[in-house]
Amino acid sequence: MATIEQEIQELKAARKAVILAHNYTRPEIQDIADFTGDSLELSRKAAECKAPVIVFCGVRFMAETAKILSPDSIVLHPNPASGCPMADMASPEEVRKYKDEHPDTLMIAYVNTTAATKSAVDICCTSGNAERVIASLPRDQKVMFLPDKDLGANIIHALNRPMELWNGYCPIHYNIPPQVIQDARAAHPGAEVLVHPECTPEVVALADQALSTGGMLKYIKESPATEFVIGTECGIIHKMQKENPTKKFYPLQPNPICVDMKKITLEDVRDCLKNLSNQVELSAEIIRDARKPIDKMLAM
Ligand code: 13P
Ligand code: SF4
Repeated sequence: MATIEQEIQELKAARKAVILAHNYTRPEIQDIADFTGDSLELSRKAAECKAPVIVFCGVRFMAETAKILSPDSIVLHPNPASGCPMADMASPEEVRKYKDEHPDTLMIAYVNTTAATKSAVDICCTSGNAERVIASLPRDQKVMFLPDKDLGANIIHALNRPMELWNGYCPIHYNIPPQVIQDARAAHPGAEVLVHPECTPEVVALADQALSTGGMLKYIKESPATEFVIGTECGIIHKMQKENPTKKFYPLQPNPICVDMKKITLEDVRDCLKNLSNQVELSAEIIRDARKPIDKMLAM
């Protein structure tokens, strides 16, 4: 009898599909993917992808971004219940209201926003390019950064530049207390401490580096260090270990888990490929308007 992985490979070939997966998905999902990456790398892949079918294993806003960038492809999101709580903290109605009340303010949206919210903003960014995007703006330009107040505060600190911050946050990273980083340092004194910039500024101040998930993978490959404490969602350790078999990786205790990223299973991937189910549907208007801020980001 064929394994589920074999079934997926056969269906993928029959559909001429490409499977993209975020670095936080389950290890078995990363292993069947054609490409794994962070939000920026996955957006770039989706933009250049010519496949008629894209299976996007990540939370919903990421699958929506793939549809916006490849509108002629069928984009399948294997489990529609996999959402991002932070993305739901900035509704398009609230964002438009803020924009109407502050016409001089540029609205910069972290890519962790819904397609409808993206359609209401000026420029997008990811954790991989947020500093670059903000640094490119005139210093006296008024900016509202949404929805992640922690990523925003970390950028304000790094660039010494004022911005208004939306009151959103990632429940997984926001709930890592500074004490957990101190405990990890004490337990692994020789390790470098890498955290995600969605962590609070207090946590970032205790780390050696604050990097996107793709940035962490690149840093680890190039670093002479052999041990690392990983201050982000633990799913990424699978890829770190695969790419660096002689290096050691320690998750935080307690281990940060994004339950939404884990909702996508091999069965979901097989079933959506078999039935072409769970297609991402967006109106032509949303695709047109949400594409503008994403294109501006990709052009930078
Ligand atoms: P990256 O772009 O760094 O992969 O981050 C995505 C995300 O959702 C982090 O919580
Ligand atoms: Fe959203 Fe946080 Fe999960 Fe990333 S880790 S997808 S920001 S809830």
